[in-house]
Amino acid sequence: MAGSLITVEGVEGSGKTTQCRLLAEWLRGQGHRVSETSEPDGSPIGAAVRAIFEQDGLTPLTEALLFMAARQQHVAQVITPALNAGDIVVSDRYADATLAYQGYGRGLDLQTIRELNALATGGVVPDLTLLLDLDPGVGLERLGGRARDAFERLDLAFHRKVRQGYLDLAREEKNRIVVLDAEQPVDRLQGEIRKAVGDLLRRRGQARGV
Ligand code: TMP
Repeated sequence: MAGSLITVEGVEGSGKTTQCRLLAEWLRGQGHRVSETSEPDGSPIGAAVRAIFEQDGLTPLTEALLFMAARQQHVAQVITPALNAGDIVVSDRYADATLAYQGYGRGLDLQTIRELNALATGGVVPDLTLLLDLDPGVGLERLGGRARDAFERLDLAFHRKVRQGYLDLAREEKNRIVVLDAEQPVDRLQGEIRKAVGDLLRRRGQARGV
């Protein structure tokens, strides 16, 4: 595949959405074609799946299977065609989110999730993952009074496990996952993101004046 897949992960309130938008703007300014997408909403099926999470009583495995269904559609309908067209794909969450949330957070077996991810992604692994690391207490505070989804309503202990999970994954895959401090100001964090992405594009021979 000619393009590059960059995923952005982190706990609630870590600023992923803003940082993805700024990254995409910068890359377009460099002349790259960029596909901005997200999970679970990146395909129509994924958006439909999101509504199911608001129901009570889902087991961790049910949650994982739903995210996997969304992921398979996302890879098939959005990510693979964009990579084949040579785009830089920037996805707000991807396969690591299920390991962090359903695995570390909800206690589902990590190996099971890895096998489901391999099926759902068909082996499409990010070229770079930016982990926006933040104390989840600070992240949840940032959400303020706005309506919260089913995961955002879970307690701090859950979100602490998710953060620790992401950090464990980053330690295991140092070459793919770059940990960045998401407590710093938006523009400084974006500067670090651009540096990491610039390094990736140079390594892959895709740099355009970065
Ligand atoms: P958000 O990224 O827009 O906050 O919404 C996605 C929510 O779904 C977020 O709370 C994390 C959760 N999630 C999982 O639990 N597992 C997954 O695999 C994905 C993609 C998201």
